Amino acid sequence: MKAQEIRQSFLDFFNHRQHTFIPSSPIVVKDDPTLMFINAGMNQFKDWFLGNSQAEHSRVCNSQKCLRVSGKHNDLEEVGVDTYHHTLFEMLGNWSFGDYFKEEAIAWAWEYLTGICKIDPNSLYVTVFEGAKEDHLAMDQEAFDYWKKWIAEDRILMGNKKDNFWEMGKTGPCGPCSEIHVDIRSAAEKAKIPGDQLVNQDHPQVIEVWNLVFMEYNRLADASLQKLPAKHVDTGMGFERLAMVLQGKKSNYDTDVFTPLISKIEALSSHKYGASTESDIAIRVIADHVRAVSFAIADGQLPSSNGAGYVIRRILRRAIRYGYSKLNIRVAFIYKLVEVLVQEMGSFFPEIKAQQSLIEKIILEEENSFLRTLSNGLERFHQYIELHPEKTINGKFAFELFDTFGFPIDLTQLLAKEENRSVNMDQFEKELTEQKDRSRAASAIDAGDWVVLDEGEAKFVGYDTPETETKVLRYRNVKSKDQNWVQVELETTPFYPEGGGQVGDVGVLVFGKEKLSVADTKKENGVILHFLKKMPQQIQGEVKAVVSGEKRRATAANHSATHLLHKALRTVLGTHVEQKGSLVGPNYLRFDFSHFQKLTDEELSKIGAMVNEEILSNFPLKEQRNTKIEVAKEMGAMALFGEKYGDRVRVIQFGESVELCGGIHVSSTAQIGKFVITSESAVASGVRRIEAVTHEKASELVDQELTLLNEIRSLLKNPKDLKKQITTVLAQNNTLAKKIEGFQKEKSQGLKQDLIGDVENINGVNFLAKRIDLDAADAIKDLAFQLKEEIPNLFLVLGAAINEKPNLTLVISENLVEDKGWNAGKIIRDLAKEIQGGGGGQAFYATAGGNKVEGIPAALSKAAELIQ
Ligand code: SER
Repeated sequence: MKAQEIRQSFLDFFNHRQHTFIPSSPIVVKDDPTLMFINAGMNQFKDWFLGNSQAEHSRVCNSQKCLRVSGKHNDLEEVGVDTYHHTLFEMLGNWSFGDYFKEEAIAWAWEYLTGICKIDPNSLYVTVFEGAKEDHLAMDQEAFDYWKKWIAEDRILMGNKKDNFWEMGKTGPCGPCSEIHVDIRSAAEKAKIPGDQLVNQDHPQVIEVWNLVFMEYNRLADASLQKLPAKHVDTGMGFERLAMVLQGKKSNYDTDVFTPLISKIEALSSHKYGASTESDIAIRVIADHVRAVSFAIADGQLPSSNGAGYVIRRILRRAIRYGYSKLNIRVAFIYKLVEVLVQEMGSFFPEIKAQQSLIEKIILEEENSFLRTLSNGLERFHQYIELHPEKTINGKFAFELFDTFGFPIDLTQLLAKEENRSVNMDQFEKELTEQKDRSRAASAIDAGDWVVLDEGEAKFVGYDTPETETKVLRYRNVKSKDQNWVQVELETTPFYPEGGGQVGDVGVLVFGKEKLSVADTKKENGVILHFLKKMPQQIQGEVKAVVSGEKRRATAANHSATHLLHKALRTVLGTHVEQKGSLVGPNYLRFDFSHFQKLTDEELSKIGAMVNEEILSNFPLKEQRNTKIEVAKEMGAMALFGEKYGDRVRVIQFGESVELCGGIHVSSTAQIGKFVITSESAVASGVRRIEAVTHEKASELVDQELTLLNEIRSLLKNPKDLKKQITTVLAQNNTLAKKIEGFQKEKSQGLKQDLIGDVENINGVNFLAKRIDLDAADAIKDLAFQLKEEIPNLFLVLGAAINEKPNLTLVISENLVEDKGWNAGKIIRDLAKEIQGGGGGQAFYATAGGNKVEGIPAALSKAAELIQ
């Protein structure tokens, strides 16, 4: 079976068992501070497990893109070195939300693997949780009994908490699990060592393919377990591993998930896969990483210098480095693999097909810039080698190469070896550990457990009202590096939580007589968190929640304006324009979008005019809150890549602009007032950014600019045609500047002749010390050098005042420097004392500046004394 068919057979199998297919959620996580990227199929269902929101379906199946490169599940350094770890992989899953539990999950897993996939039951092993005293959990007898129906008892192995109790992170939903392992070794090898001894021993051919998790608990911050409101099933099967087993291969990289990419890398690098361990690792690293980076970009995460963007940049750089040092590729090439990836995966993951050229452009740009950094690093390395003869290269320096220039330590070691040296690895490791500790400390967030005051379902009412009477459902204390917060969940809240580019609402919560500011509002796994700086004295009882109306109004105007802008951009530039990010706050709006060139002034003014026309048309807001996504799409609403949508969506319409959006908007476009674009720039290759202001901010800006214009007009004596007048003044200025340059040349020619006449011969030295009337340092230098060319044995000091400050220039012919040992740099320091200043330079040319113009004659006479 081809990999594509395997994926489909899994989805079909569960479809026939009433599971609804849900597309993979984007890999970039937006509303969970504990997670950067989706690292398991269950992430998108966390709210449903925790009971924060009602599951839309009780049975689901999916194939989720996962990225394990940060946090608890971090495989990056293993990827490519072995043949079965990946950064990006697909996880096939079937899910029950409060529906079936262990019996069906186990029976169906067995039926799928042995019945549909035809895996020999004699090569399968399963594991069952052995229990854990510290959690007061007994062995999972239930799972054991269900497995016994299908598989020989000696193939059911007990597993410890590490392998058989699945937890998403430090806190969150968790439960005992049963893993299914396949032994794909040859019969001879199986006869030597029984497979049960190799389960969970990191053997590349005795591997876990499927994990069935029976979610029952929520792990709290104090490490205790709390029962979830219902029991659920979360299963995750490694798609690439299943493909390996079913295609009879010994490595994931030998399946058709990877072979097309590997063939292309072979063609681009002239290295055959299988020829050497070193180049094989490099080929695997590149084949793996191009997938992770391409999908991240497709889901809206561009490589950047911080946060999730930095993780993506590091993955791409790891691939570039391997190409550079192990395959000897010194030019950008990884972007050429995107086409192959799109051919293989574009039909199941349309986001990658639709954005192919954007992904290629961004990867190409990153490759080129990193290749430049690498060559700067090489230069730095060679400088170091020249300056440091020691046999051991300082570990701190190796760390600098690693940190600033992205040099992997093995590349530095290789370079060191070529120079017959070694690297102080202890020092390097120490620096690395210190850096890791620093970044861990900077990002550590310590969230306490929730203190529940009242049961009830939280509700957002902010689309209809900015203020409401309510009560606190629960609260918790959260400590981060800079600030401690009390986070509060309200029963009903008008506060909009940061999301969809719009900033979170601010305002106040009134507890009796006590008024506390809400500094921010954010959403975490479906829970709306209000950030308070301190604990209210009386948290129980009635609370009045009031959103700051002024900020809300300004933000709403900016948000609605982004919709109009989006529409105008697509009309003026073309429908290739896709939103790539936005920031909407009370002061301004920012909108990033895909487009391949800088916008012309004409395009910008057309776009601005179009938005202002829509504002004046005063289109009313048409809001539909609970529309089926298919209906919304029929209305022309565009779903954005990188956003996760449920079955029901909110549609915002102003005239012909139709968007899926959860944000706060004006009730008609005239309330936006006015729209002014303040800047247009590049974010990355293929992504442009527009910043703009609306309403009061736009009027303020227009007023400021008008005032400035009036001031300029009056400076120019109120001409009729201001633009023409400025052009004339600039042209005049140009002509005058040229004339002055000509005069100066003439003047210094005359001056030169006079000076030549003034030269005295003192003891065989042509000496001249004179104050001249030139006030540009360049012109003086020019003159001095011309004199030096023309007069042999010259000792020349010129004094001048430049901008009312004294200046001395000294030139001495080279032969005098040689014969007499004179040094202009030293001499000038002596002369400069007379003008209360200092200076320096070379042996034949030096200059000095100072503060006492009247000292110039004294400095000149001192020069004469010096050569007597
Ligand atoms: N959550 C489990 C895992 O990630 C099963 O999906 O392995």
